[in-house]
Amino acid sequence: MNQKKVDILSNLGYQYYYAGAVRVLKEAHMVDDPLAGGKVEVVRYSDSVKGVEPRRGKVRDVYDLGKEMLIVTTDRISAYDVVFPTLIPHKGESINRLAEFWFNKTKKVIPNHFIKVEDGRSMRVRKAERIDIEFVCRAYLYGSAWRAYRDGARTVSGVKLPDGLDMADKLPEVILTPTTKAEAGHDTEISGKEAIAQKLVTKDEWKELEEATLKLFAAYQSHAKSRGFIIPDFKLEFGRLDGELIQIDEPPSHDSARFWAEKFYVPGKPQEAHCLDKEFLRAYLREVDYMGDGPAPEIPAPVVKQVSMRCVASYEVLSGKKSLGDYSLKNVDQVMRELK
Ligand SMILES: Nc1ncnc2c1ncn2[C@@H]1O[C@H](COP(=O)(O)OP(=O)(O)O)[C@@H](O)[C@H]1O
Ligand SMILES: [Mg+2]
Repeated sequence: MNQKKVDILSNLGYQYYYAGAVRVLKEAHMVDDPLAGGKVEVVRYSDSVKGVEPRRGKVRDVYDLGKEMLIVTTDRISAYDVVFPTLIPHKGESINRLAEFWFNKTKKVIPNHFIKVEDGRSMRVRKAERIDIEFVCRAYLYGSAWRAYRDGARTVSGVKLPDGLDMADKLPEVILTPTTKAEAGHDTEISGKEAIAQKLVTKDEWKELEEATLKLFAAYQSHAKSRGFIIPDFKLEFGRLDGELIQIDEPPSHDSARFWAEKFYVPGKPQEAHCLDKEFLRAYLREVDYMGDGPAPEIPAPVVKQVSMRCVASYEVLSGKKSLGDYSLKNVDQVMRELK
């Protein structure tokens, strides 16, 4: 892009920088607020630290500040490992606020990377040496674990499951189903033995991480229950810092966990109608036959509104500011009718 064009864009309020070899413009603009009258800012790409190029994940922009990092949660959304062209108003800020709430609440259970919130969507954290494993934990049979079970699998990550379980049933015990953190493409399951063999962790660390995950899961579940919610599964990440294992990345959120309203929980059925997590979006995408192959489609406005509402509600309900009844959640069938 030539300098003249860049200057014109700067005059229009854009800022620019290089991401690798490709020049990327900061992209933020005002849109109609889907949840209230007025306008709200949505951010696709941040440009928060002068002179520092962020590493852009699927949803977050991470700035390396030496011993610390600035994590900016944008309004991008991903599903089936694909980032969508549509932005979700209020998403970044709600996820960041809920993370602040959780990190403060559980720091006595397991230490974490949280230092402070810088602005609505940004958080300053301690930089750790990341352990390249996602600690997925399940208390209910749902999602990929349910699909494997339905297709005949009776062991999940080495744990034997009884016959006769149904979709969304509570599992006899909480199980850990860790996956590798692939730089690109899909994550694959990994057992403790494999993780130790691949020298991702030592035997002692694995034990410590397993225990930490279960302790955190218990803490999250018990708080969620007091707010009328079930957390059937989630994923966590850990890192090493000065010889200590700490929780990094994000606590349970719209993107990294499931949140089911206890009042509406019915085993044997999909739970997307009253969930405050990304399963609603995935359910919509299945309706339009998009499961991650090919370019991601735009998400239509009625769906954006429902996803935005779920992001805000997950923060406000779980942190105790509001209750579920304050939101008019719709299920996918209702939204599909609206779209016709
Ligand atoms: N305290 C930390 N130290 C080091 N890396 C971290 C820390 N917290 C989060 N991360 C990493 O920052 C990235 C966050 O961006 P995200 O949008 O989740 O990307 P991804 O698409 O890789 O999941 C992740 O790769 C995560 O592992
Ligand atoms: Mg991530």
